[in-house]
Amino acid sequence: MSKFRKCTIAGNWKMNKAVNEAEDLASSVKREMGECSDVEIVLCPPFTALKVVGDAISESRLKLGAQNMHSEPDGAYTGEISANMLRDLFCHYVILGHSERRTYFHETDDVVNRKAKAALKANLLPIVCVGETLTERDAGCAESVVRTQLQGSLDGLGDVLDKVLVAYEPVWAIGTGRTATPETAQAMHKYIRSVLGGIGGSKADSVRILYGGSMKPDNAAALISQPDIDGGLVGGAALEARQFCEIVRAALSC
Ligand code: 13P
Repeated sequence: MSKFRKCTIAGNWKMNKAVNEAEDLASSVKREMGECSDVEIVLCPPFTALKVVGDAISESRLKLGAQNMHSEPDGAYTGEISANMLRDLFCHYVILGHSERRTYFHETDDVVNRKAKAALKANLLPIVCVGETLTERDAGCAESVVRTQLQGSLDGLGDVLDKVLVAYEPVWAIGTGRTATPETAQAMHKYIRSVLGGIGGSKADSVRILYGGSMKPDNAAALISQPDIDGGLVGGAALEARQFCEIVRAALSC
């Protein structure tokens, strides 16, 4: 591990795993990787499994993350969950603005920005997701789409940018088996860091930028060994302990 930014592998379980399955998966990851300190390992189960996964990984180095939250601290928001509620369950991280939330739940950069500010206020580290669609990439506007998402989602956060993680998840690579090549991903990560420099100056150098989109054991090392790729946000391959731990091992080898 040569990078000064801590390599981070986060598993986004999305809307998968019943409570007992989540407990099994978390316990298996803990058995294999519970003492790992060179890679930051984050498990992000659905809300319903946060408690049991938190209990399963207690007394290990594994960290807990949520997949979403509301921007208000409390109040009449039926069906929503606040940052403090997540802290209550010992979450360290929260994924914000995932493309599935942007697409299916109409989350805008402004919404993501409010959530990111609320997360930081509650001492949760936000993993802010950005990424272009295939149509946008083919039209040659991948960089401008990602720049707009970053500037909107991170508005006003320049002073605390080192507490934010960014996940670059090209929409065309999510759940499709079609991964960005290491070169394509590195080019975008480098670009993202330059945009972050415009927002937070030298703090941009400490921002962990994760790649997400069909990351698997056989492509993880090539991606993570790129200079501006600081780990992965893993979907499908995080649902199985063996695959997820292999990705962590690939990260350890970089
Ligand atoms: P897949 O790894 O299944 O492509 O999902 C990526 C993702 O959306 C992680 O947040």
